[in-house]
Amino acid sequence: MAKENFGSKIGAILAAAGSAVGLGNIWRFPTETGEHGGAAFLLIYVAFMLLLGVPIMVSEFVIGRHSQRSVSESFYMMSGGRKAWKLMGLIPVVAGFLVLSYYAVVAGWTLYYAFTSGINGFAGRTSEQFVDDFNTFISDPVQPLLWMVAILIVNGAIVALGVQRGIERGAKIMMPMLFVFIVILVGCSLTLPGAADGLGFMFKPDFSKVTHGIVLSAMGQAFFSLSVGLCCLCTYACYFRKDVNLMKDALSVGGIDTMVAILSGLIIFPAVFSIPGIAPSQGPSLVFVTLPNVFQQVFGGMPLLAYLFSLVFYLLLVMAALTSSISMLEMAVAYFHEDHGVDRRTASALSTVVCIVLGAACSLSFGLWSNVKVFDMGFFDLFDFIVCKLIMPIGGLLICVFLGWVVDEQVLKDELTNYGQLHTPYYPVYRFIIRYFAPICIALIFINELFQLA
Ligand code: ALA
Repeated sequence: MAKENFGSKIGAILAAAGSAVGLGNIWRFPTETGEHGGAAFLLIYVAFMLLLGVPIMVSEFVIGRHSQRSVSESFYMMSGGRKAWKLMGLIPVVAGFLVLSYYAVVAGWTLYYAFTSGINGFAGRTSEQFVDDFNTFISDPVQPLLWMVAILIVNGAIVALGVQRGIERGAKIMMPMLFVFIVILVGCSLTLPGAADGLGFMFKPDFSKVTHGIVLSAMGQAFFSLSVGLCCLCTYACYFRKDVNLMKDALSVGGIDTMVAILSGLIIFPAVFSIPGIAPSQGPSLVFVTLPNVFQQVFGGMPLLAYLFSLVFYLLLVMAALTSSISMLEMAVAYFHEDHGVDRRTASALSTVVCIVLGAACSLSFGLWSNVKVFDMGFFDLFDFIVCKLIMPIGGLLICVFLGWVVDEQVLKDELTNYGQLHTPYYPVYRFIIRYFAPICIALIFINELFQLA
């Protein structure tokens, strides 16, 4: 089957950045940072981004672009025909469905909040009402489901359009808008009365806050934020042209992703510290309960500003969620389309239906099914745990072992130098990381922390 490519180098970077930048940066990062004490978590997270996230991203790019095939075929071919490596092809399909199912629930919440902002539904609400509104909304059996289905349908339609007309065009329009929105919001947030405390929380580390669980959480957050370990970026890299500089692009995407996470913190924490009695450790509701409250209270005397701040913020979240969820659906669609010859539209439609069913279970775990627990977790938390703390680290480890030990080193050199055309000064560091540092580090953290959590 003929491969469609991204039409331009910038399109490829923006699509990969779009996959990386998402709710993970704007919703999950402040939530995790707030729950784990701020600056110390941020430092560990940035270290993981640089030392593990970016090298694994480079590796996924190498695998995808070199083989130009589906994930299972890539691993099979590059391993010299070892059948066991074909099983890697299951990771993106299983993980794609799991991650998109719970991600779409939060994406649906953002769409609802953008809509409510748009109709000025937050005007005049009190702190207590914001908490009640959020809890009533997420525990409703129907409403959050409808918003989730809406976002999944838009997502499915973009993926069905294909690589250039759907994914690349979507990223080219949405990513620059996202950056403009973020910069405007940071500017506003830094003028708030709690800006200094917010900055202190984010940048003055208190290492007494580093307890067990933090390291695995920071690693999971780094992987989630970059979308690495799921072979999702192998799928995207199949569509990269041969002149794309893989190492430089991975560094750019890693840089953009980290910057957006930090900027999101700079929007959220100054705002949180501007209202007495609101804690940064609020958890997943931080962005949905605290912020609309903050917008109303801080800009209470300027209703137009409160309206605009809130609308722009939630629209930004919707766009960020879409560019990432596109890549999640693409993992499954590419599998059915390329491995099984299913037409792209049919594959998108069927995969969307599967996500709607699984997503409904996640959504209901906040209300009707709140008592249904597996290993003491509702479906939403269970899917998040399986993806971020199990599949991503294991996937990342296997990808490193594969490129570091199984694949012929010449393939790596050819891909990273574009067959001798580029100079890659970081190659020895990268090779050391994927052969030794990353596998040992991931295995140690994983085993140690899982035993502690058990
Ligand atoms: N990398 C995606 C995000 O950050 C999953 O939202």
